[in-house]
Amino acid sequence: MNPAQALLFDAEEMPIFAPQRESHTSHGDVPSLLKWTGSKRSQATRIAAYAPAFNRYYEPFLGGGALLYLMAKPGAVAADIYAPLTAFWTMVRDNPERLIADYARQWEALQADLPGYFYVVRDRFNMTRQPEDLNFLMRTCVNGIVRFNNKSDFNNSFHLSRKGMLPRRFAGIVRLWTDKLRGVEIRSGDFEETIADAQAGDFVYLDPPYAGNKQRYISDLDVARFGDVLDHLNRRGVRWALSFDGVRGGTIYDHTIPSDIYRRKVLLNSGYSAIAKVLNGPVEMVTESLYLNY
Ligand SMILES: C[S@@+](CC[C@H](N)C(=O)[O-])C[C@H]1O[C@@H](n2cnc3c(N)ncnc32)[C@H](O)[C@@H]1O
Repeated sequence: MNPAQALLFDAEEMPIFAPQRESHTSHGDVPSLLKWTGSKRSQATRIAAYAPAFNRYYEPFLGGGALLYLMAKPGAVAADIYAPLTAFWTMVRDNPERLIADYARQWEALQADLPGYFYVVRDRFNMTRQPEDLNFLMRTCVNGIVRFNNKSDFNNSFHLSRKGMLPRRFAGIVRLWTDKLRGVEIRSGDFEETIADAQAGDFVYLDPPYAGNKQRYISDLDVARFGDVLDHLNRRGVRWALSFDGVRGGTIYDHTIPSDIYRRKVLLNSGYSAIAKVLNGPVEMVTESLYLNY
């Protein structure tokens, strides 16, 4: 399968038809503000092409928000369980100039004390969890990838060969996102409470963490509870799309989603694993599944 192809399955796992619908945007149209683990930036356009018409959009596992960038409209709800992350997105929406000025100031401090200043900010973030510091760390840590230890402290190191994105470039990217976030309601909390008020006609995009990736996330997922929540959405007439299991190299991250919960399954070839590249492991082709209840 080449990257332009997708396989579509019905709920009994029978391949049916594989349209690769084009949308008006391309991958490059989601500017990379926060490179969160599990980011769907490279597939966002293809996922968005499967979205139905909807009243209100919900994205309860926001992370770096790749799909939100394409789907956001006033009234949309975006949330994550990691409070410093939702504080960051709230700042992008409400206080972009403060974030931009803070990054410029911290970037200058880094150039004057390289890499010592990075570790000053990392220690401070692990005590105060300020969103400006999360942003600075994400812009300057190894490969921009978030990583926490088992105490939920940020523990990635400074990216020695880089000095961080130039402040002027960062400012341009923040302002693009601020435009997209106008009128978007940003909540902090568990996915179940985020989507509790979704109604018939609304659309929920779910991108929970892979259990196979659990050490890279703040919180792992209870798969049984997750199935119950999807079932409840079905009964309320809420449409949803779920990025879930996947195949990486020879490994199948297979969390069986009961076939009576969804209508179709699309296999999206998402290219090569960024994590494998970062960790100098074997470069592996990653295939992501998209489950749809419509
Ligand atoms: C795969 S990432 C989402 C990536 C995102 N789609 C993107 O493009 O960057 C999963 C996110 O779910 C969040 N999360 C984990 N458990 C959660 C829960 N119980 N409720 C809400 N969010 C949760 C994590 O903090 C993480 O940001």
